[in-house]
Amino acid sequence: MSFKILGTGRFIPPKVVTNDDLSKIMDTSDEWIVERTGIRERHVCTEETTVDMAVEAAKNALENAGVDPSELDMILFTTSSGDYTTPANACLVQARIGATCPAMDVVSGCPAFLFMLDCADGYFARGRVKKMLCVSAERMSRVLDWDDRGTAVIFGDGAGAVVLGEGDNYLTSRLFVKGSTAIQIPNYDGKSPFYTSHAETPWVHMQGQETFRFAVTRMVKDIRGVLEDTGLTMDDIRHILPHQANLRIIEAAKKRLKARDGLLYVNITRYGNTSSATIPISLDELNRSGQIKEGDYLVFSTFGAGLSSAACVVRW
Ligand code: UT7
Repeated sequence: MSFKILGTGRFIPPKVVTNDDLSKIMDTSDEWIVERTGIRERHVCTEETTVDMAVEAAKNALENAGVDPSELDMILFTTSSGDYTTPANACLVQARIGATCPAMDVVSGCPAFLFMLDCADGYFARGRVKKMLCVSAERMSRVLDWDDRGTAVIFGDGAGAVVLGEGDNYLTSRLFVKGSTAIQIPNYDGKSPFYTSHAETPWVHMQGQETFRFAVTRMVKDIRGVLEDTGLTMDDIRHILPHQANLRIIEAAKKRLKARDGLLYVNITRYGNTSSATIPISLDELNRSGQIKEGDYLVFSTFGAGLSSAACVVRW
């Protein structure tokens, strides 16, 4: 027994920041950002917290699934930009949506949504849960170095969620890790008077070009891997939902995979990179706009801090 996706939800903070807005506060331009990343605008929090966004996305997903919070057996939550290191942000979502089940955070950078689905698969396989909420929320604006134009322009805020029930629709997954700090958000270094040196500032640090190469290579390998696992071909897949880190990464992977136009979903233009929330946000957009039908095969593919990457196949 594995799971099927019963419902989806998202929350995007209303405040839009365009590339021109950014060019007023840092040395950048709409032309550079569009050409190098494809991003035109992103949404950022003004008063919303990470948990606030997660709660709204969770409520939307529960409503979409027709599931009451009291039915949930487990809540998992991913974030790289949570309001707290402890308690787990999931615990606050549990209280605010009125659930009583166990809840915990899964930390794995941008790919965390897929690592979380794989954990969820294990709970269903052991027969420990019948209904589960998986939510990803990212307030990247809180962890960005706003003096670093190389990273400040590419991320955005948002949340996405799915409600899972028993089913056999999670067909396969591939997870990959190559331990590295090429992308990192160091924790606040603390105040110990005994330390002899201090860690980097607690903002996003990224080696962009190394990550770019890793991303394209892994997307192609992971997608080919999950297709091989299932015996499906690219023609059988209704949508590939790739991590939205750079339009050039998506286009390079599309070319190598020889994928048809439109197969790889793109919304980076409007949101930038919302880290682990990216795939559930894309999924909710496709679901609510009627672009997924029962029986459709979907591939999710992601990469990022870890360095790690993952792909899976889900039947709708
Ligand atoms: O989800 C996490 C996964 N992350 C990723 O997948 C990110 C992957 N990497 C990338 O998407 C790209 O490497 C970036 C978008 C981050 C950077 O693009 P790039 O084409 O690799 O640019 P670069 O870092 O090599 O910089 C090229 C030039 C530099 O100027 P010089 O040294 O050639 O004079 C930068 O200073 O572009 C400059 N630059 C900018 N210029 C205007 C860097 N950022 C900006 C900016 N505006 N925002």
